[in-house]
Amino acid sequence: MIECPDMGKRELMNLLLLGALSLPTAGMLVPYTYFFVPSGLGGGGGGTVAKDALGNDIVAEQWLKTHGPGDRTLSQGLKGDPTYLVVEKDKTLATYGINAVCTHLGCVVPWNQAEKKFICPCHGSQYNDQGRVVRGPAPLSLALAHCDVDDGKVIFVPWVETDFRTGDDPWWS
Ligand code: FES
Repeated sequence: MIECPDMGKRELMNLLLLGALSLPTAGMLVPYTYFFVPSGLGGGGGGTVAKDALGNDIVAEQWLKTHGPGDRTLSQGLKGDPTYLVVEKDKTLATYGINAVCTHLGCVVPWNQAEKKFICPCHGSQYNDQGRVVRGPAPLSLALAHCDVDDGKVIFVPWVETDFRTGDDPWWS
């Protein structure tokens, strides 16, 4: 009666990686592990360098060459959580990243470019293009992280301030 979220997550990550990357098949097994093995950099109070699907540090300039306005692509964020990097309409990186873990039962939520929403395949929750929940059963919006650029690299920093989408305190901190 209850779907296994882990199963959905695994299958989904494969889909996301396949959709997000155009790499040779041999490369596909490598990114798979990176999303599930925390880098060990989490915590400690500082920022965490965002990693791409291959586990490499993300350099903002390079990223923006291959990710256009409106793009939302997964990276490895704080504590190894899959986190979307957002490219704004003016071709700059948004100052926030969106944690892709569904607030219902934890599936990784894919971005639906056509609908301009994040739509969870597990039980149908929907989030707008900033990760604010617009349809349940998810009870809460997707978590945020600050997204900064330091020495050219993209850095995630824990978001402890008011959630700008709802005006509420952040439930995740
Ligand atoms: Fe249930 Fe996302 S895990 S809707």
